[in-house]
Amino acid sequence: DVLDVGGLTSKGMFTYDPGFVSTAACESQITYIDGGKGVLLHRGYPIDQLAEESNYLETCYLLLYGELPSQEQYDTFVNTVKNHTMVNDQIRTFFNGFRRDAHPMAIMCGVVGALSAFYHDSLDISDERHRQVAAFRLIAKMPTLAAMSYKFSIGQPFMYPDNELDYSENFLHMMFGTPCEESKISPVLARAMDRIFLLHADHEQNASTSTVRLAGSSGANPFACIAAGIAALWGPSHGGANEAVLEMLEEIGDVSRIEEFVARAKDKDDPFRLMGFGHRVYKNFDPRAKVMKEAADEVLAELGVENDPLLAIAKELERIALEDEYFIEKKLYPNVDFYSGIILKAIGIPTSMFTVIFAVGRTVGWIAHWHEMISGSYRIGRPRQLYTGHKQRDYVAVDKR
Ligand code: ACO
Repeated sequence: DVLDVGGLTSKGMFTYDPGFVSTAACESQITYIDGGKGVLLHRGYPIDQLAEESNYLETCYLLLYGELPSQEQYDTFVNTVKNHTMVNDQIRTFFNGFRRDAHPMAIMCGVVGALSAFYHDSLDISDERHRQVAAFRLIAKMPTLAAMSYKFSIGQPFMYPDNELDYSENFLHMMFGTPCEESKISPVLARAMDRIFLLHADHEQNASTSTVRLAGSSGANPFACIAAGIAALWGPSHGGANEAVLEMLEEIGDVSRIEEFVARAKDKDDPFRLMGFGHRVYKNFDPRAKVMKEAADEVLAELGVENDPLLAIAKELERIALEDEYFIEKKLYPNVDFYSGIILKAIGIPTSMFTVIFAVGRTVGWIAHWHEMISGSYRIGRPRQLYTGHKQRDYVAVDKR
């Protein structure tokens, strides 16, 4: 029994679209997806070309400014990002307020939002220069904060950023380096890390990016908006899926048990889903998953762990699911998270950090969308609802209930 929709129909059509399956909330020039064909373009450039020939920071430039940079523009951009990799010293003290076993995403939600309390000039979003500096700060500081959340969890001292290193090398240095010895970073692993950041850089109006836009539409500051995006990313249906994939592979435990789990995923009375399969937009192979699969093979060969038991389960699961009628009919293909978890595990990154790494890579996409919205004309986002509650009724005193 639904009441009318509060007068909105008199102004135009009212659409009811749970999950926004077919409602566009904005215009955007950043990213194009054709889910049926498995196409993903950033500013017109195919993701596989960018993953092969570009790098994360160049792709950041492209997403933010709309064009590939000249050499000079690229160098200036990289140097500017490097100038912002340190965090205010007082931010270090924040960490002591968390439990050591806190989930790093819980820490990131709090600490990134708290950047608003430190960089006051970035709060004036009416000034284009301040918006640019906010973008640099976020891209530069996210790896530093992510690595700090990891170091805190294992009780090791924080590592300062090393600006002699490139973006992804520096992240691995801050994650795995110690003050007692010089970091030795494998170029193959650094390249794989960079690809993971690049492949997660943007994906148009997904749940977290839409959250950033919605928060930003009220005029909230960029750090608060990105913290909102991090919170939305954390869920297992979104960024939390890469962590869930590894947990699922561990739960399956052996190749002989795959059929049992595939059967559970098909059983409508069982809430279990195969993590890392399916996508709201891709009804074909996710083009990022193809690149990620190649990167996984490279990393495992570099580390000599091709015979990893979890990887064996992943490969067999992929084979079985791709041949299964249920998955074929519902167009459920492995998504980017299916392979990224395998790479991250091989690099030695703990499962609890997987979604944090997604957040580091996606930060530029969130900022690019926030900036695109703030720079144009926009209205506060305010979805409507279809009210299905009580009709008006009179209050009843407590002794009469
Ligand atoms: N395993 C088993 N069945 C599935 C799966 C899965 N992983 N994904 C979808 N289905 C089924 C659903 O049960 C549903 O079946 P029905 O039509 O009989 O009811 C049908 O496929 C459509 O699923 P929806 O949930 O309606 O699809 P939606 O577009 O809303 O969800 C989502 C997409 C959330 C990604 C879903 O496929 C899922 O939960 N996958 C597992 C989690 C995951 O890997 N998430 C990562 C997404 S990618 C990213 O964030 C980068």
